[in-house]
Amino acid sequence: MCGIVGYVGPRLATPLLLEGLKRLEYRGYDSAGIAIMNGNGVETRKAPGKISELEALMTASPVHGTLGIAHTRWATHGAPNFVNAHPQLDCEERIAVVHNGIIENGSALRQALEDLGHTFRSDTDTEVLSHLIEETYDGNLEEAVIEALSKVEGTYGIAVVSTDDPNKIVAARKGSPLLVGLGEGEYFIASDVSAILAHTRQVIYLDDGDLAVLDRDGYRIIDMNASPLTKDVASIDWDLDMIERGGFPHFMLKEIFEQPDTVKNTMRGRLLPETGTAKLGGLNMTSEELLSFDNILITACGTSWHSALIGEFLIEDLARSPVEVEYASEMRYRNPIITEKTLCIVISQSGETADTLAAMREAQRRGARALGIVNVVGSTIARESDGGIYIHAGPEIGVASTKAFSSQVTALALFALKLARLRGLTELEGKHIVEAMQKLPDQIAEILETAPAIEEIAEQFKDVTNFLYLGRGYNFPAALEGALKLKEISYIHAEGYPAAEMKHGPIALIDENMPVVFIAPHDSVFDKIVSNIHEVKARSGCVIALTSRSEPALAGKLDYEIRIPETIDMFTPILASVPLQLLAYYIAVKRGANVDQPRNLAKSVTVE
Ligand code: G6P
Repeated sequence: MCGIVGYVGPRLATPLLLEGLKRLEYRGYDSAGIAIMNGNGVETRKAPGKISELEALMTASPVHGTLGIAHTRWATHGAPNFVNAHPQLDCEERIAVVHNGIIENGSALRQALEDLGHTFRSDTDTEVLSHLIEETYDGNLEEAVIEALSKVEGTYGIAVVSTDDPNKIVAARKGSPLLVGLGEGEYFIASDVSAILAHTRQVIYLDDGDLAVLDRDGYRIIDMNASPLTKDVASIDWDLDMIERGGFPHFMLKEIFEQPDTVKNTMRGRLLPETGTAKLGGLNMTSEELLSFDNILITACGTSWHSALIGEFLIEDLARSPVEVEYASEMRYRNPIITEKTLCIVISQSGETADTLAAMREAQRRGARALGIVNVVGSTIARESDGGIYIHAGPEIGVASTKAFSSQVTALALFALKLARLRGLTELEGKHIVEAMQKLPDQIAEILETAPAIEEIAEQFKDVTNFLYLGRGYNFPAALEGALKLKEISYIHAEGYPAAEMKHGPIALIDENMPVVFIAPHDSVFDKIVSNIHEVKARSGCVIALTSRSEPALAGKLDYEIRIPETIDMFTPILASVPLQLLAYYIAVKRGANVDQPRNLAKSVTVE
């Protein structure tokens, strides 16, 4: 979503902040701004659009200083324009605030501040903060920030600078991620480690209720009573090249091509081939504890929710434990059956999605144990869950999730295997699954070699307006994910459906203009999906099929065919998702869309 970066140290702040903003641009990108202490006071530059617009403005009209804060915005309150871009200032233009999150009592506070004589310039909830701090400022910036925040309801990650305290950045967190970066005689604040990774790997993650005060001599972490806190310094093991494109035209393509390695990384050290099971130390649970649950609830959003559906099939299939999958945003506001005997699995690439985090907290409040399947180490869900599995996919920058999906499903398979072996799956069956899993990285690499053929297919479909994706069993969620990938980045309307459900509605849409992607590997429901393909062909639909072998039953029925290697049923969605990612990618590129930064979307949705 929005991104924050701040710097204090001996170097010029502007290039560091612009570089940080560019690395954060994937999170949200409708406008951006910067505030620098220029020796006389706060000076700001703001621009709607991409960071490059702000960069051009700053080249034409530079600001020099060695302390500053910056922001990329993804609009919530107020249109994405110049006035609503952050930083937001107070009346006297002495205080600048950048903010991620939402101030829920913003309207009431604004009214109260206007009654006190404050004049607002923007439609944002953030501007309330700068005026509130102005109202409470009495010579000490952190005290004013604390007092202002005590009046605020909602979520925030903020960074504040003031002309009256020109060597200080005050930052605070409640519900929106923020970390302090420790360099050599210099300090950073950032909402995402990628913003500062080029300069330091030593970070302190702020928790809700924490404030950080950075100045030229050091940093302090304090609580809302201004009492000092001692926090651990974490070392980030991501490399800079992991957050760069490495010769690929887009992050999305790079990340698709990383999947042989990322799936391997998810499995690394966790498969036990001799006993046909998996080792998952991060669960923090004994075998007895794992066996003590009555039911499993998996919750997530977006692509992670599609992984959750596959997780349900895996766990029920292998371990015979009852599983339910809930959209996190829905789970929060209904009354699901959660007890101390519920295991809640929370899936999130970023570990920061607001709805997923809130659903996890609600499950924990009701006594459930929460396991996180998370990519970003040190993220809030990773830290607040009771245990879990890091997927180790490395930073995912492309807004459309790709490698995180295959790694999430891999992690769920590891978990299902481990639980299943405790619940009676035989060693022989376990070994069979381990063998199939070990082949996946090479099989994904094999699929990637067919990218040029998929690109040619994409050429035929770049001008269509609708797409249907159909699959059965394990590949129904893969169909949902294929459709999501296409609509996210190409803006073509696409729907995923269980193939047999097509007869109950979508079949009405089928004519010669409707491309239908069938996920039809040679699995246990293959014969059934053949019938569905015939039904589409009988209505002149155009069939693109993912198959795993030459099938006489399909002779003459496929307009386009994409081959994937054979695996056991449960791993077909991992393999099927790769060509579907490529198809979506190439169609989007051919339509001229910005695949890494699709319109209106954000990588990490940190508001409800
Ligand atoms: C956003 C992203 C999706 C992602 C979803 C959940 O909508 O654009 O790609 O699947 O959030 O994110 P999470 O980080 O919780 O997996």
